[in-house]
Amino acid sequence: MQLERVFENNQKWIQEKLDTDTKYFDKLGSGQNPELLFIGCSDSRVTAEELMGLGPGEAFVHRNIANMVISIDLNVMSVITYAVEYLKVQHVVICGHYGCGGVKAALQSADLGILNPWLRNIRDVYRIHKIELDDISNEENRYERLVELNVKEQCVNLIKTSSVQKAYRDRGLKVHGWVFDVHTGKLIDLKIDFEKYLHDIMEIYHLD
Ligand code: CO
Repeated sequence: MQLERVFENNQKWIQEKLDTDTKYFDKLGSGQNPELLFIGCSDSRVTAEELMGLGPGEAFVHRNIANMVISIDLNVMSVITYAVEYLKVQHVVICGHYGCGGVKAALQSADLGILNPWLRNIRDVYRIHKIELDDISNEENRYERLVELNVKEQCVNLIKTSSVQKAYRDRGLKVHGWVFDVHTGKLIDLKIDFEKYLHDIMEIYHLD
């Protein structure tokens, strides 16, 4: 890749924005007020704003390998706290994707060094849902189901945080689980019953 292209593209993009609104960057520079926190995979194909058709200022974004919400990861926890408590987003989305290399790697027997503790969280999702997953004979279908179940479990991990519990109680924050299908470009809403999960786990995870 010629990196000069990136800067040329940037100049074109600036001009396009100014052509439609001469005050575009004055507005952009004045602050942000996104309504959505998007937690997706770092995979280069899962391009957050582009696949949602959103522009700058509309989504607060965090991406890591396999869109994980891990309670001792200071990075994702800081993003959630800032987005929910300070930016007061209305929606938090966990977006997985079919063909996720992180999910595939977690199902293989290989020592991947520093990736081991990260991927172990996905192996834990497999363990929790082992009966359902082992019942799926087609390997590709099993991976895809694990991608979906991983999204669900990360939504549950979100609900375990005090930020999300308080924002749900005080202002009706919503949590959503989506999957991006890299083969078709389609964004699929898993229609996770957030309130049911919340109700089910609160006995153990209630924090405030
Ligand atoms: Co991925």
